[in-house]
Amino acid sequence: MMYKLYNFKIHGNYDGNLVALEKGADFPFEIKRVYYIWGTRPDVIRGCHAHRKLEQMIICLSGSCDFILDDGKERTILYLNNPAQGLYIKHNIWREFTNFSPDCVIMVLASEYYDEADYIRDYNEFLREVKI
Ligand code: TYD
Repeated sequence: MMYKLYNFKIHGNYDGNLVALEKGADFPFEIKRVYYIWGTRPDVIRGCHAHRKLEQMIICLSGSCDFILDDGKERTILYLNNPAQGLYIKHNIWREFTNFSPDCVIMVLASEYYDEADYIRDYNEFLREVKI
């Protein structure tokens, strides 16, 4: 499985939306870290790494962007533009994200604290590690 898309329940019967995320139903790990990204120029390519252990739930809270995912065998591109949808990625998936709309805000729920040793930042090293 390269990724899983979660469709979150939208609550509210008024002019607005609310999504509540609970471990189990909405994401499958304990959250140790949350970070968010905004103000990225459309032509920038972010990410360009894989993780050795980390699990993440990625939610595009506002605007849109493209996510390129690669498991070492195939590549897929996902267009994220829905704050009620979560993109779940496990370890050993190379990711790049780009084509940011000016209002794009991405929030990431992460299963581990930030650890540079968990990053694979070289694509050839990633291919070597996924083949083992
Ligand atoms: P990086 O993961 O390279 O960003 P992206 O993959 O989105 O391009 O992180 C950018 C910078 O932020 C880098 O200097 C590390 C730092 N950083 C933290 O300190 N803590 C974190 O949780 C994250 C995700 C990044």
